[in-house]
Amino acid sequence: MAYEKEKENAAAAAMELVEDGMTIGLGTGSTAKFFVEYLAEEVADGLVVKGVPTSEDTRRLAESLGIQLLPIEHVDRIHLTVDGADEVDDRAQLIKGGGAALLREKIIASASDLMAVIADPSKEVEVLGAFPLPVEVTPFGYTITAKKVFDALKAAGVSRPRIDVRTRSGNKPIVTDGGNYVLDCHCSVIPDAPKAAAHLAAVPGVVEHGLFIGLARTVIIGHEDGASMFEY
Ligand code: A5P
Repeated sequence: MAYEKEKENAAAAAMELVEDGMTIGLGTGSTAKFFVEYLAEEVADGLVVKGVPTSEDTRRLAESLGIQLLPIEHVDRIHLTVDGADEVDDRAQLIKGGGAALLREKIIASASDLMAVIADPSKEVEVLGAFPLPVEVTPFGYTITAKKVFDALKAAGVSRPRIDVRTRSGNKPIVTDGGNYVLDCHCSVIPDAPKAAAHLAAVPGVVEHGLFIGLARTVIIGHEDGASMFEY
């Protein structure tokens, strides 16, 4: 895996934010996996925390490692969420959803006292948009929704968006944990991410989009020999 050490070091640095007794949102993806593994080591050594997984993959991983989990319906407060990102800019605006977990990730991040992003340096960008923006949509009417998503991105200043339905082998659309499809929106550049977020959120059939604006307040970038932590 590329940037393995950098991902691992970012995850290790996030352990500094963990305190005994916390309820912690557990992110999804290869970087968040390192964090779940570090957390499990501390739990085995006596740390008491409860986890709230952002995907079925993470639920299975955390369970297998012995982390106590809370069903989302039983959660009063999430003290901290640690999650990866596909892109992060210098205002801590993110693109997420490369692993198709954006809906649960955003619900849990928005319910957290603190969202900390852990990432390797390849995720840092000046302007969001090189990574195709994931948009989760209902299967019903998804071809119509895709056209509206195109219009919404154009209205938000994306010059030539291209939209693909995310598929698996056999050309079948992938189905998210929430039973929805994912549109990958190739934008190259998203000149005004908050504007794009607002336009996308207004499209009927859009369940959630992968622009995380104003949610992350700590960004941890891992390096080969450590990590840098930035507060926003
Ligand atoms: C999951 O849906 C995503 O939001 C991930 O957090 C994101 O794709 C980062 O994944 P990696 O840590 O594997 O790059």
